[in-house]
Amino acid sequence: MIALGADHGGYELKESIKKHLDEKGIAYHDFGTLTGEAIDYPVIAEQVANAVAAGEYEKAILCCGTGIGISMAANKVKGIRCACCSDYFSAYYTRLHNDANILAMGGRVVGPGLACMLVDVFLETEFEGGRHQRRIDLIKAIEDKQ
Ligand code: RB5
Repeated sequence: MIALGADHGGYELKESIKKHLDEKGIAYHDFGTLTGEAIDYPVIAEQVANAVAAGEYEKAILCCGTGIGISMAANKVKGIRCACCSDYFSAYYTRLHNDANILAMGGRVVGPGLACMLVDVFLETEFEGGRHQRRIDLIKAIEDKQ
């Protein structure tokens, strides 16, 4: 089960991703916006990020207009490593090297075809660990110093 969330700028992309996940049989919980009406992206980001940080969901997908604002907000939650991606290489390596637990994308940046490819590689790629775990631990150390 993964978590999904979007503001109005990412609503249509989120709906396309839901259709893709339905076709693949991947379960999700949609934190909204459920209608496409305007909602401030930090509100959705905080709800989804809190749920991931609490261990309710292993991973999440967030969408706003650019993917940037919603990723910035999600990354304020301790334990969240949200990567805003619009290319395949980044979506792959942010799992492999950064153990990202949230993928953010911009509904005004990427089309649904590319977005679904990014979702797939994000969900299917395992964290490599090793030397990269030390770097994740250093990110955690920064959080602990705040
Ligand atoms: C909303 O218009 C827009 O600012 C938002 O979706 C996002 O792009 C912010 O980063």
